[in-house]
Amino acid sequence: MTVPSTTTSPTTVPARTSGDAPGHGSTAWWRHAVIYQVYPRSFADGDGDGVGDLPGITSRLPYLRELGVDALWISPFYLSPMADAGYDVADYRAVDPVFGTMADADELLARAHELGLRVIIDLVPNHTSDEHAWFREALDAPAGSPARERYVFRDGTGPDGSLPPNNWRSVFGGAAWTRVTEPDGTPGQWYLHLFDSKQPDLNWRNPEVVEEFHDILRFWLDRGVDGFRVDVAHSLVKAEGLPDWEEKAVMAGGGDDESAHANLGPMWDQEEVHEIYRGWRQVLDSYNETGDPAHDRILCAEAWLPSVARTMRFVRPDEMHQAFNFHFLDTAWQAEDLRDVVTESLEEAAAVGAPTTWVLSNHDVVRHATRLGLPPGTRRPNGIAADDPQPNPVLGLRRARAATTLMLALPGSAYLYNGEELGLPDHTALPHDVRQDPAFFRTRGEETGRDGCRVPIPWVAGAPAYGFSEEERSWLPQPLVYGPLAADRQEGVAGSTLELYRTLLRLRREHGLGAGRLEWLEGHAPSVVAFRVHGAGGRPMTVLANLGADPLALPDGLEVLVASGRLEDGLVPQDTTVWLA
Ligand code: GLC
Repeated sequence: MTVPSTTTSPTTVPARTSGDAPGHGSTAWWRHAVIYQVYPRSFADGDGDGVGDLPGITSRLPYLRELGVDALWISPFYLSPMADAGYDVADYRAVDPVFGTMADADELLARAHELGLRVIIDLVPNHTSDEHAWFREALDAPAGSPARERYVFRDGTGPDGSLPPNNWRSVFGGAAWTRVTEPDGTPGQWYLHLFDSKQPDLNWRNPEVVEEFHDILRFWLDRGVDGFRVDVAHSLVKAEGLPDWEEKAVMAGGGDDESAHANLGPMWDQEEVHEIYRGWRQVLDSYNETGDPAHDRILCAEAWLPSVARTMRFVRPDEMHQAFNFHFLDTAWQAEDLRDVVTESLEEAAAVGAPTTWVLSNHDVVRHATRLGLPPGTRRPNGIAADDPQPNPVLGLRRARAATTLMLALPGSAYLYNGEELGLPDHTALPHDVRQDPAFFRTRGEETGRDGCRVPIPWVAGAPAYGFSEEERSWLPQPLVYGPLAADRQEGVAGSTLELYRTLLRLRREHGLGAGRLEWLEGHAPSVVAFRVHGAGGRPMTVLANLGADPLALPDGLEVLVASGRLEDGLVPQDTTVWLA
């Protein structure tokens, strides 16, 4: 069924709705949902051009339903010149032809809802593309004009204005300012871009910008989306006067920069940003007049902040629903650190009445199956290149499976990144000439960048492009190790990573773990993470993650329901997590 692109009657999710029966009681779906991130360029290619697209995603929805997730979050598919893989939006109300049409988007939504899957889309409010109509208008308009007031234009400094307005540096490397040529051909003002020069920052102190985004929210809510993942949610408002800041504008950590996560520069987390989300929350709430949690539409903040407490300010009751827990993602594979971050996350979330979220991988970080195979103490790199120290893939996968098994038992909502259910590693030896991440180019290769975690998914081991595309084409080359990890090689195979994820998601649902309460268990070695989750359904689940070298004996009277790796003589070996009930 193809819904004509003019339709605005949204579909809604039948069955498996508010309570996500049987285990989750009547809690709002987003408080415990497992949300699967689809990176559209890399998920499934429906038209054989080597780039994934919306029809490709639609064709794989039954796979996601079978996997057992509750919702999808789809990275941007708007019209874009793709200077940052779609995070540079030229038109927020149009689908880029590389991904399909608006009819394809409607079809995806309708089909997902029929299958009981919710759909969250990605909204990019900090910046537009330089090819957005507003920016083009701004370039054609004089300094001080209303068109320029939608962005952050300033005169340069120095005698002839040839120096940038301040010393801010871009997250992707280089200066955060670019000078424009005025319509009369003279060198002119500068505009701010915290990211690539093709991503000019909007001026969120301008009410017209606020109004425009309310309208964009409504546009997609009317089409039936279930929520928005909000890109760089903490950056929209900059400190008055744009004061100098000596440090790099680090955001997603990575690199060797020790200040990552400690960065609280004048471009991040200004108080006024919260007012914007209060406004957005009202827009979303107006789409649920009855207040039935099954119809909640949600906002999830991507905000890299130095503390859990700071992050939780985005999910106060009248702001967003969720914020990514990057503190969990960045926690070392150490039992004590894991216990600490889980405790802190649960406490800080409870303090504002929000659910905790958990995440281990996404399109901006080295996948956890690779990251956890790096030597202990290695700081998370921004990409791994062929001449960098290579991870241990066996150890990485083993720990990744143990980490996910721990994560999916935790109360709250969890995010998965496409391909992690296959145990995919990063491509750690991509040739530089295929790289696309602007961070690689703007740092002149000092940072490898994020392409390695964005390689297209292998579906069928023996097919062209491992079944990603009908043709032998994929926009980034797939490593040979993706063959044996293809979905068809794992389907129905006991012990495969895919079957592990399916089992975990089924048990999580049946036992209502996402809506459960966590109790730490005492009396284990310090290298064991041991807890019990009193779920909203079924018996409590005991979870033991053994990070130490000594094998761990199983407690009496409990049955092992799932294990991330093989048990040895009935003992839990190192880097293995078990669920027992
Ligand atoms: C977010 C996105 C990232 C993008 C950046 C700029 O961090 O996740 O992929 O490059 O914002 O939009």
